[in-house]
Amino acid sequence: MAPLRIAVFASSEGSNFAALAAAASAGRLAGASVELLVCDRPSAPVVAKAQAAGIDAWTFNPKDYSSREEYEREILAELRGRGIGLVVLAGYMRILTPVLVEAFEGKMINIHPSLLPAFPGMHAIRQALEHGSKVTGVTVHFVDGGLDSGPIIAQRAIEIGEDETEASLAERMHAAENVLYPWVVRQFAAGLIALEGRRVRLPDRIMPENDSEDK
Ligand code: GRF
Repeated sequence: MAPLRIAVFASSEGSNFAALAAAASAGRLAGASVELLVCDRPSAPVVAKAQAAGIDAWTFNPKDYSSREEYEREILAELRGRGIGLVVLAGYMRILTPVLVEAFEGKMINIHPSLLPAFPGMHAIRQALEHGSKVTGVTVHFVDGGLDSGPIIAQRAIEIGEDETEASLAERMHAAENVLYPWVVRQFAAGLIALEGRRVRLPDRIMPENDSEDK
């Protein structure tokens, strides 16, 4: 089996991108490599992180295109040209069309800062706080045509403290994401994730508690 080639889509800070790139270069993604960053904001901090990691960035400005489909067709050609086998959405703030979603069915994953199906969409951390939830968390799921609605691969629960703020919760959320996402990608790269309808089967549900255990 040829090593998996990954494209990460991100729009902003890129902490998950950086965690994935670091895991790949440390050989912790079962031989997979991060080949490309796709970014809709050429000035986003994640682009500098890609440069620092020596990973190519394909940036674009959506305003230069007449439709989402038009730029997605260009992205798709780029992904195919590079033999990409997994698309990892990591804070990509654009709605995807069937051009990419159907081309990468079962090969496109997303990370979302809530325990889906609770709080899909924007501001999931704020939504959980405003709702008065006691527990929230992180979900990694396959991407389908809906809003954060695809089959769930893995989740980590996070308790909400009495004095929790949106900022403190976001920080804890990111720390959990930056461990969980490389772990899921490694399972995918090793061919251990089986999709059966809406249910995802993982042979080993034990997940690392922190980076040092994720070896
Ligand atoms: C993460 O919180 C993720 O759950 C959401 O977007 C954020 C991206 O953070 N989808 P970063 O850019 O990877 O730091």
